[in-house]
Amino acid sequence: MKSIIDLTDKRILIIGASSGIGKQCAITLSQVGAKVILAARREDKLREVLELLEGDGHGIKAMDVQDTENIEKCVKEIINEFGALDGMVYSAGVGTAIPLLQTKPEKIKQVFDINFFGFTEAVRQICRRGRYNPGMRIVGISSVASIRGDKSKTAYSSSKSAMDSAIRCIAREMADKDICINSVAPSMTATELYDRYIEKYGEDSDTNQDLLKRQYLGIAKTDDIANAVAFLLSPAARFITGITLPVDGGLTTC
Ligand SMILES: NC(=O)c1ccc[n+]([C@@H]2O[C@H](COP(=O)([O-])OP(=O)(O)OC[C@H]3O[C@@H](n4cnc5c(N)ncnc54)[C@H](OP(=O)(O)O)[C@@H]3O)[C@@H](O)[C@H]2O)c1
Repeated sequence: MKSIIDLTDKRILIIGASSGIGKQCAITLSQVGAKVILAARREDKLREVLELLEGDGHGIKAMDVQDTENIEKCVKEIINEFGALDGMVYSAGVGTAIPLLQTKPEKIKQVFDINFFGFTEAVRQICRRGRYNPGMRIVGISSVASIRGDKSKTAYSSSKSAMDSAIRCIAREMADKDICINSVAPSMTATELYDRYIEKYGEDSDTNQDLLKRQYLGIAKTDDIANAVAFLLSPAARFITGITLPVDGGLTTC
């Protein structure tokens, strides 16, 4: 029997692949046949992830998306070494919480540099002729914070809303180039980010218990997010573009 999610020999760049959701995306995509290129700042972590992948033809690229001017150089080197892309996942992100009174413009800019400008610049660079194959599909890792208000989340939430908004525009602009783009919006997911949250608030805290009431299917596993990403990258999702898919255990129904 043939799986409807089949990425055999599709070349997918994953930015933010050294840990958490990006790391799981790399593992899952390799399991459905993709050849993945892992990118992030920590090369040692990328090498560890590389060891976990199925199949061959994978690679790594050290890359800092905060330095947006460096993205073009990195993308060119990736294409020269591995060939044109069939897809990209952008999972690089920072989950900062900053109270409003400390949210100076430069703080917002730091968050936007990674969560938003790095994303749009990476998309801009891979959408150039010769750098992608027909049918390329892009997935950004957004967040339910994109559509929900929360204390101390002005910078983070706005950066994710900006990503989702950009995706709707890019989807329309790139459709005639046979490029589709979507985002996945996770709620709280079991990564180091969640470990830090539990360290701060404690498992039994009102904050965490309140979260679990609203996110009533529990805390997401990285698999839950990676499976949605694999679907959106696959030909099975060929008629889907410009959307943000919540993968949120019910949170946005509350
Ligand atoms: N975990 C959650 O509950 C949750 C919920 C909703 C949305 N999200 C979103 O999911 C995405 C992944 O989060 P995660 O939980 O998997 O966090 P994570 O484990 O901290 O992963 C973040 C990734 O981003 C990379 N990164 C950070 N700054 C970078 C930079 N300047 N240049 C290149 N790469 C950079 C990190 O690699 P290096 O440090 O090696 O560079 C790492 O691979 C983020 O966009 C986050 O906002 C997470």
